[in-house]
Amino acid sequence: MRIDYDPQAMDSRAFYKLLTAVVVPRPIAWVSTLAADGETANLAPHSFFTVACTDPPVVQFTSVGRKDSLRNAEATGEFVVNFAPEPLLDQINATATDFPEDLGEFDAVGIEREPSLRVKPPRVAASPVALECRLHSTLCLGNSTVVFGTVVHAAVRADTVVDGHPEIGRLRPLSRLGKNEWGTMGEIKELARIPYQDWQQQG
Ligand SMILES: Cc1cc2nc3c(=O)[nH]c(=O)nc-3n(C[C@H](O)[C@H](O)[C@H](O)COP(=O)(O)O)c2cc1C
Repeated sequence: MRIDYDPQAMDSRAFYKLLTAVVVPRPIAWVSTLAADGETANLAPHSFFTVACTDPPVVQFTSVGRKDSLRNAEATGEFVVNFAPEPLLDQINATATDFPEDLGEFDAVGIEREPSLRVKPPRVAASPVALECRLHSTLCLGNSTVVFGTVVHAAVRADTVVDGHPEIGRLRPLSRLGKNEWGTMGEIKELARIPYQDWQQQG
């Protein structure tokens, strides 16, 4: 037996809660931007986040409504996706507070920044990975805007790299689940894809 939900017949907020409970776990882009004044450094978590294209490398996040991160990315054409690791949970959550527009979260929360290499918005110094992005395009969908950014530089903390590759156990990513839930890494399984030729031989 299943319970049926019709988005057309439901309050949009209720369906949003259902969607975010079942599209899980979602990686978190901790997005840093600079306001148009070039001074105020903004930082906010966005879990509607993924890779949009591999060549060229493009990532995307979605702003539900028009928030500072979106406005700044549009105004300056740049943003940085900082990796959201478990040890920084409290700081990440604090940057989701609805501070006034002229109060940047780096200062309000007391988050140490470091300069980016290719773009003006700063990186989060304590985050193990920064993807420096130039705005590619935006796509308005209903109440939301999808923001696409071409990754022009990736900076990965050396102590998270093993044999030339970022190591999941050292990155310790957080994820967003439903409600106010956050996820941490569970058991990690490794399993190679099965080429069709092998599949046939097995059968
Ligand atoms: C874990 C987490 C994930 C979030 N994901 C999103 C998201 O994908 N899109 C969005 O618009 N807001 C999201 N939010 C809410 C924003 O972070 C929050 O509204 C923030 O104040 C926006 O900041 P800004 O106005 O400085 O851009 C999320 C909040 C948390 C705690």
